[in-house]
Amino acid sequence: MSNVSTLKSAYENYFKIGAAVSSAGIGLYKGLLGEHFNSITPENELKYTSTEPEEGKFTFDEADRIFDGARELGIKVRAHAPVWHAQTPDWIYKDGDRPAAPELIYERIEAHTKALCERYNDDVYAWDVVNEAACDEPNDLSPTYRDSEYFKLCGEGFIVAAFRAMDKYSPGAQLFYNDYSECIPAKRERIVRLIRTLQEKGCRIDGFGMQQHHFAAPDYDEIKRSIEVYASLGLRLHITELDVSLMATLNHGLDRLKPGDAGFADYVREALHPTPERLEMISGIYLKLFEIYRSYRDVIDCVTTWGVADDYTWLDSFGMGEDMPKLKQYPLMFDTAHKPKSCVGRLIERA
Ligand code: GLA
Repeated sequence: MSNVSTLKSAYENYFKIGAAVSSAGIGLYKGLLGEHFNSITPENELKYTSTEPEEGKFTFDEADRIFDGARELGIKVRAHAPVWHAQTPDWIYKDGDRPAAPELIYERIEAHTKALCERYNDDVYAWDVVNEAACDEPNDLSPTYRDSEYFKLCGEGFIVAAFRAMDKYSPGAQLFYNDYSECIPAKRERIVRLIRTLQEKGCRIDGFGMQQHHFAAPDYDEIKRSIEVYASLGLRLHITELDVSLMATLNHGLDRLKPGDAGFADYVREALHPTPERLEMISGIYLKLFEIYRSYRDVIDCVTTWGVADDYTWLDSFGMGEDMPKLKQYPLMFDTAHKPKSCVGRLIERA
């Protein structure tokens, strides 16, 4: 039983408590960040389109705002996702009018990595070096890898190049591979293959980032099994993008509910006017998830939520298509008024 009143101090002997923030969020949530959190992830500001929209023209203003705010709060940064199939400018894949050769792409990844590391190394303790390179379903190119532009042009070489470059320019930070649907057995097997390949090629990979976006009722046994499988690869684990959507309280499938799915109409009806009991279920899911995370404290070093409070989350634009209303998801541990939900006090007590 803990006698402290903030998440970060209650969890001091377990893992860091992190949050993703935008460059606006670092100011907006300064109070909550300072009180409860001891790790910060830039939500979009270190992604390729944000930092090098044109080759060699680096734009760091937005990321700088987050790093300045984090430094003021005395919080180190968990840096996120320079090599990813999304939010990446087209120039990286091109050589004039032709597709770029793998070697040119590797040079570009190296130059980009060098610039990011030279600017931010002092404040970064971990990097998501590559994000979401495993596929959800086998495709024509691979049973394991996403058929992204990177993969089409380089095969798995771009992942190797990204890890080698980050190891070279950021030898002091922990290097992570990060992915979603990581507890669905078929996807987990692909992620494991991808990680083993990196290890066999001698790349330094220190950890795996389990995103933990919950759009469906969590399968707690599968989460435990997954933690064990990933840890058995000799990796440290971070929970990197935790959020529990309102949808997760109504959806017992594996995937997001979509128009036409059984239960979808009920979900929309509830989500338009969620009852207090329904919203409380989100807190209940947080409690069960943290119970699992606590029991794996020997391998989990950080638990990051993807946002701080419900007034701003990437899920605010969560609609199901043009004719569907935007449905608020209330996915975080703090409400729209920045007040702690019931799970916060209980998580502190149970630590
Ligand atoms: C993925 C990415 C994150 C973010 C979220 C949605 O999970 O890893 O960087 O873009 O989607 O906001």
